[in-house]
Amino acid sequence: MRVLVIGNGGRESAIVRALRFSPSVTEIHCIPGNAGIKKYALCHDISTQNITTLVQFIRKTNIKLVVIGPEQPLSEGLANQLRQNDIVVFGPDQRSAQLEASKIFCKKFLESAGIPTGKYFQVSSVEEVLKYADQLPGPWVMKADGLAAGKGVIIAKTKNELVHFAQAIFVDHKLGAAGSVALLEEHLSGWELSYLVLTNGRDFQTLPLAQDHKRLLDSDEGPNTGGMGAVAPISITDDVNKIIQDKIVRPFIKKLDDEKMDYRGVVYFGLMMTTTGPKVLEINTRFGDPEAQVILPLLDGDWGLVFQSIATGDVPVMSWKALHTACVVLAANGYPENPSKGDVIEGSVFQETNSSYFIHASLGTNSEKDYVTNGGRVLGAVGMGSSREEALKNAYNQTKLVTWPGIFFRKDIGKNLPIN
Ligand code: AMP
Ligand code: GLY
Repeated sequence: MRVLVIGNGGRESAIVRALRFSPSVTEIHCIPGNAGIKKYALCHDISTQNITTLVQFIRKTNIKLVVIGPEQPLSEGLANQLRQNDIVVFGPDQRSAQLEASKIFCKKFLESAGIPTGKYFQVSSVEEVLKYADQLPGPWVMKADGLAAGKGVIIAKTKNELVHFAQAIFVDHKLGAAGSVALLEEHLSGWELSYLVLTNGRDFQTLPLAQDHKRLLDSDEGPNTGGMGAVAPISITDDVNKIIQDKIVRPFIKKLDDEKMDYRGVVYFGLMMTTTGPKVLEINTRFGDPEAQVILPLLDGDWGLVFQSIATGDVPVMSWKALHTACVVLAANGYPENPSKGDVIEGSVFQETNSSYFIHASLGTNSEKDYVTNGGRVLGAVGMGSSREEALKNAYNQTKLVTWPGIFFRKDIGKNLPIN
């Protein structure tokens, strides 16, 4: 089967890698891909907004399955448009993708399904923010309603900081339309868990649990990022898992079904495990990045068949390897505010061992054909092992194989976790 992957980041690089090891997959295509993905997939420069050209390409190339990686094309309705042309697609429809693309839509959905989540107020002016901030104890969490590539959330320790953010999005329109409405949300304390399931909108299959490290610096200091590293699997007790499934996952899937939403893909429940139980921080309608990098290698099976099965409305039975995985993100100088592009990478980005390799994310080439940084999160060093410690050791050894001016990565991925 020929498969097309949409996207250009670390997540899509991990999906392409998973498909390379899928016996059902004979040829991998990617739109647009990146300098690393190019080595393994046929990359094409076609806009996902140009549906006529895209459909012609898919038909001409005899592609049997499309896997959509990122939230942007999902929120623009790419899955719907391809399905209207009888193309088999892994990815939720546009209405379902609003669960990620509009935080207000998501909150209302969660509330109406009785799913535990933080209390919130909808706000669209500095005055409203100040009015409602008095009704919540600090620190204050404020989130732009729309997609903002990780820049739409602030956890403000002071009202001053909060007002600053409110002015930036409502007065200076720093996030454009994505920030014209926002949520002011109750701050939740606890530990975070990435709980991902595959679903056809009626049944679900839980994937190995993962933990991301969202803050830039060691010990969870510094600004929020897209994610600086992850480990899997995370073990929780059967009792805790039952609570998550009964109070969150099942009501969520039931609501998808009740609302007749065409959800064929991944639901990423970003959970805060609080002393009063798990609560939903966010829903993503796609694989996490870097969670995909640590979850996908754990399947004991064929991802091509799994994606195809979900895309055609079934949920397959899946089994998992007795392995641990770790991913350490290697970031460019200046990430996340202002990542430096064009820094030449020393060492081969394609070096691999039996138990470690690089995932290619914001990777480019220059006119001398050197591999260079091309955005914030450049590479993911992935390690595997029979224990978390071994996986981490292998991932950190892999980080030593490359360097560039200003390379930055966290040194404490997978350490000091609140749980196994
Ligand atoms: P989100 O985009 O909603 O996932 O927010 C990004 C990150 O901000 C989360 O992964 C958390 O680390 C943090 N965060 C979001 N909402 C809250 C909240 N209500 N309380 C505490 N931390 C939060
Ligand atoms: N790792 C967080 C995300 O993918 O949103």
